[in-house]
Amino acid sequence: MKSLIDVLDFSVEELDSLLTTACDIIENPAKYSECCKHKKLATLFFEPSTRTRLSFEAAMLELGGSVIGFSDGSNSSASKGESVADTAKVISCYADIIAMRHPKEGAPLVAAMNATIPVINAGDGGHAHPTQTLADLLTIYREKGRLTDLTVGFCGDLKYGRTVHSLIAALSRYTGIKVVLIAPEELGLPKYVKQEFMQNMSFVETTSLEEALSDLDILYMTRVQKERFDCLETYERLKDSYILDTAKMQLAKSDMCVLHPLPRVNEIAVAIDNDPRACYFKQVANGKYMRMALILKLLSEDAPISEIPGVKQEGLVCTNPRCITSIEQEPEHRFRLEDAKKGICRCVYCEAEYKAL
Ligand code: NCD
Repeated sequence: MKSLIDVLDFSVEELDSLLTTACDIIENPAKYSECCKHKKLATLFFEPSTRTRLSFEAAMLELGGSVIGFSDGSNSSASKGESVADTAKVISCYADIIAMRHPKEGAPLVAAMNATIPVINAGDGGHAHPTQTLADLLTIYREKGRLTDLTVGFCGDLKYGRTVHSLIAALSRYTGIKVVLIAPEELGLPKYVKQEFMQNMSFVETTSLEEALSDLDILYMTRVQKERFDCLETYERLKDSYILDTAKMQLAKSDMCVLHPLPRVNEIAVAIDNDPRACYFKQVANGKYMRMALILKLLSEDAPISEIPGVKQEGLVCTNPRCITSIEQEPEHRFRLEDAKKGICRCVYCEAEYKAL
């Protein structure tokens, strides 16, 4: 049984086939309305969400299936101290597929390693958010007609913005992508994302949205992720670093697409919503279709088995406080060897870097 924990769990061919299915669902919704009859999706949301959870629920209902779950971890047995692994084993007895959001990085991977049903990562801490990427890819594809040869600007909180990390990972698989990273110094892209993905893509970094705008085919705006800051003062200082308004939109190409995973706080003036280049509400609709395609794929019989990633490194433990291993004893500390020559490895749950033993 296959899970979706990281967008790179899927090949480009698999992503393309999801896009094709999603486009077919858009054209022929009736064809799919009973595909998941008698199937249950469990939405396990340990962290707030409106769009992602309801998008998963709407997706399953439109496939004729049903939904169980919770939208607040304090209502679940986690508040009694139940581990993610046990929760996954229990829910496997009730449902056919799980969508999990969790504040700790790697929690959905721990769930996938213990569940007997497919697990979908619906966002883990500041790490990854692969199904938002599916929504983003379909939006870019429908608006631009291609996923290659594009200049894509990422603006705002590139450090904690998990949607940015996953979209960059996915785009690194396509040819002709140029990336422009627009962020204050404190909110730049994590080193591991740069090291892993930026080698295949040409990229520039700037702090000025105005200077970058005229080159962009896609502008991906993001919210400064208040909940991930250790220091509220830093958040207050950085929260309004970039505000896209009508004056700035005049600097952009006439066919640039503005994307935003939402929720928006101040990053995009409401006046932009009427600009034909504003695509963030279309992105929401596309998210539902891609989640339908994803559920269909993961519930199909021929989905291959996901491998357990990484290996044990005797004596090495991850010490990242954002990692699921920081609050739970159960997950085995596992590492992926990144650079054998330099002896660098990464925690499979949160990507923290260590010296391989
Ligand atoms: C994003 C998330 O949760 O990471 N929202 C979403 O899922 N659509 C972005 C955000 O919260 O800023």
